Amino acid sequence: MPSYVVVGASRGLGLEFVKQLLAKGNVVIALARKPASSEGLVAIQDKNLHVVQADIVDSESLKKAASETAQITGGSLDVLINNAAYVSYSFHTIADPPSESALLDDLNKGWNTNVLGPILTTNAFLPLLRKGSLKKILTLSSGLGDPALVLESGFAGQVGYCVSKAAVEMVNVQYANALKHEGFTFLAISPGVVKTAQTAPPAEFLPYIQKQGEQFASVYPHWKGPIEPPESVGSMLGVFDNTTVADSGKFVSHLGNRNWL
Ligand SMILES: NC(=O)c1ccc[n+]([C@@H]2O[C@H](COP(=O)([O-])OP(=O)(O)OC[C@H]3O[C@@H](n4cnc5c(N)ncnc54)[C@H](OP(=O)(O)O)[C@@H]3O)[C@@H](O)[C@H]2O)c1
Repeated sequence: MPSYVVVGASRGLGLEFVKQLLAKGNVVIALARKPASSEGLVAIQDKNLHVVQADIVDSESLKKAASETAQITGGSLDVLINNAAYVSYSFHTIADPPSESALLDDLNKGWNTNVLGPILTTNAFLPLLRKGSLKKILTLSSGLGDPALVLESGFAGQVGYCVSKAAVEMVNVQYANALKHEGFTFLAISPGVVKTAQTAPPAEFLPYIQKQGEQFASVYPHWKGPIEPPESVGSMLGVFDNTTVADSGKFVSHLGNRNWL
């Protein structure tokens, strides 16, 4: 069966990817910053699950994880899923940050985790992927990385997150062009708005979250609100499974097109 590395597998969509891929009989290497702290991973009993420590802002830990993965798989990897992310809940606008240092901190965290992270991870696993039979890389982005949606909705917040997710689309394109001739398929995907938060947001965020929902609904009047992780991951895997090298470099939604909701 194919081998998958799922990055950021401790909770949320990453954990759901692990569950659905194991249910199909795949070999899954789940990367987590603190594996022992992940109640979700600890609870899974499956001989095809291998949990490996890695922090995607630490290139040495990624190289070590790739080396451990090679021992598990015999030296190859079929599919990499870049799922981990820094998700900022700063609803200040870029023009009105609480302070310059707070704005830069948000932008740097987005850049380091959401842009450099997938690059360091992909490059660490590339030698294994080159020996794999599928040569597919899925990178989780967001509709908030599409300037057209953000402009039309009027949303002005989560600056570090939006900027980093826009940049990761170009990262995906660069990889696609660099490696198309080797038969690689790179797909960036948005999961929709998905209920992954483990705790309720702080009360002071609620008016901003409500306004953001209204802004999304102004662009997508049919939108019924957030979906559950199983629906989102099932849809994304359906899209990804049907993606071929001819699609490499595309950025689509869980619906398989540029409709984000
Ligand atoms: N949920 C949504 O509505 C939504 C919408 C659009 C896009 N997305 C995208 O979908 C992906 C998954 O989202 P989610 O909602 O499942 O996020 P989440 O619940 O916040 O989980 C984030 C995951 O990333 C891991 N992570 C963060 N920084 C890391 C690092 N430096 N090294 C390794 N792992 C790290 C976290 O590990 P720890 O447990 O160690 O913190 C956790 O497993 C992200 O790329 C996100 O941007 C989500």
